[in-house]
Amino acid sequence: MVKYLLSFMVSIPLVYGASAGMKIYGQTCVECHGADGKEVSIAGKAIAGSSGTLAKLTGYKNGTYGGDQKVVMQGNVAALSDADMKAVAEYVDTLK
Ligand code: HEC
Repeated sequence: MVKYLLSFMVSIPLVYGASAGMKIYGQTCVECHGADGKEVSIAGKAIAGSSGTLAKLTGYKNGTYGGDQKVVMQGNVAALSDADMKAVAEYVDTLK
């Protein structure tokens, strides 16, 4: 965790933006949604090719969005800052 925080803090000034989103995705989301966002076995649907990801993530965080398994996603976004959520959402929106 400390190692993660350190490498993350160092990288912020360098790459904050799309590549920060890619990094967060690779660390936090890829195991369930797949590298291309097309993994359906866990979430039941692909997140690639969708839009409005930030609204969905915000909804998971404040409890206004989600299906039967929303508790899983609530856990995933709980620790993300607004900036991290925005960055990762922008990255997800680029997955086609
Ligand atoms: C432990 C597995 C797991 C991880 C890790 C995970 N997700 Fe999910 N994700 C799910 C499940 C399960 C759902 C379906 C939840 C529901 O019922 O609403 C979901 C749903 C979503 C949806 C909504 C899809 C839709 O159109 O309704 C988005 C967007 C999403 N995840 C993005 C992410 C992002 C971004 C991350 C990383 C920050 C992430 N997920 C990490 C399991 C995971």
